[in-house]
Amino acid sequence: MGRLDGQVAVITGGASGIGAATAELFIAEGASVVIGDMQVEVGEETAGRLGEHCAFLECNVTKEEQVAALVAEATKRFGRFDCIFNNAGFGGAMGPVESISSEDWDITFDVLLKGVFYGMKYAAPVLKAQGSGSIISTASIAGLGGGVGAHLYNVAKAAVVQLTTTVANELAEQNVRVNCICPGFIATPLYAGKPLGTAGRESAERTLVKARAATVDAQPMHRMGEALDIAKAALFLASGDSEWITGHALVVDGGFRAGKPWRKQAKWLTEPHPIRLYRPDGR
Ligand SMILES: NC(=O)c1ccc[n+]([C@@H]2O[C@H](COP(=O)([O-])OP(=O)(O)OC[C@H]3O[C@@H](n4cnc5c(N)ncnc54)[C@H](O)[C@@H]3O)[C@@H](O)[C@H]2O)c1
Repeated sequence: MGRLDGQVAVITGGASGIGAATAELFIAEGASVVIGDMQVEVGEETAGRLGEHCAFLECNVTKEEQVAALVAEATKRFGRFDCIFNNAGFGGAMGPVESISSEDWDITFDVLLKGVFYGMKYAAPVLKAQGSGSIISTASIAGLGGGVGAHLYNVAKAAVVQLTTTVANELAEQNVRVNCICPGFIATPLYAGKPLGTAGRESAERTLVKARAATVDAQPMHRMGEALDIAKAALFLASGDSEWITGHALVVDGGFRAGKPWRKQAKWLTEPHPIRLYRPDGR
């Protein structure tokens, strides 16, 4: 028996990376999935690979009517709707603050924040009416503090965490859970800086091989994150195992936010020492 038997989920950004891995895991656990993505060729390929319990719909999450259509497609295609994973994203505007244009600002927030808002907006009425369901969004550890990610990316992801909290409060009245996931460094085309596209696949894979080696020591756990690590967190938040969890930002980062890896800390901290008592007389 699967943990999502008979359930139907919508996943944005489901063509590649975290979204595609989540679609695969959800289906393996008994769900049907509608994936929405801007990349049509890759999205159709992913849906084809995942079989009859997966459907693809072209969707740009910055377009309200396309997100509405994506949510409607779940019920139309598979007869019900239980979960949305607002996961589509990109790196957004990069560089020094003075180099960022108003257009860069708009498109970054349109994709990373408005896209999530639209997903919540169209999922909420259906889930509220049925009195159950789970809304999950992909935020980031970049949304929890500085030092990782670009200016606007960090702010947009922080806003996703806040939107999760406020919407969770509202929807708890109808037994609908709203949570987000804050991934650390995950080996996906986004991290490689190369949107998948069928042409870019080999080059993205080569970059990720190097990234995995380079980031082994970036977090306490001895490896970079993989899309499946986040998919497993999404499965938990979609399933009944998280039935009393809402308004939560689940950090999945191999311990990155726990600080500098123990193996790289100064010896005075990591080696056993006899306790030194403080003696006011200096003896
Ligand atoms: N990879 C990481 O290290 C990392 C870390 C923290 C958070 N994230 C977040 O994870 C999410 C998934 O990214 P990923 O790492 O799997 O990268 P990815 O590039 O493999 O997947 C992102 C998907 O989103 C789609 N997309 C982008 N803009 C879109 C739009 N406007 N409308 C619809 N689809 C759109 C892309 O086509 C792509 O298929 C993103 O929100 C990203 O910000 C990634």
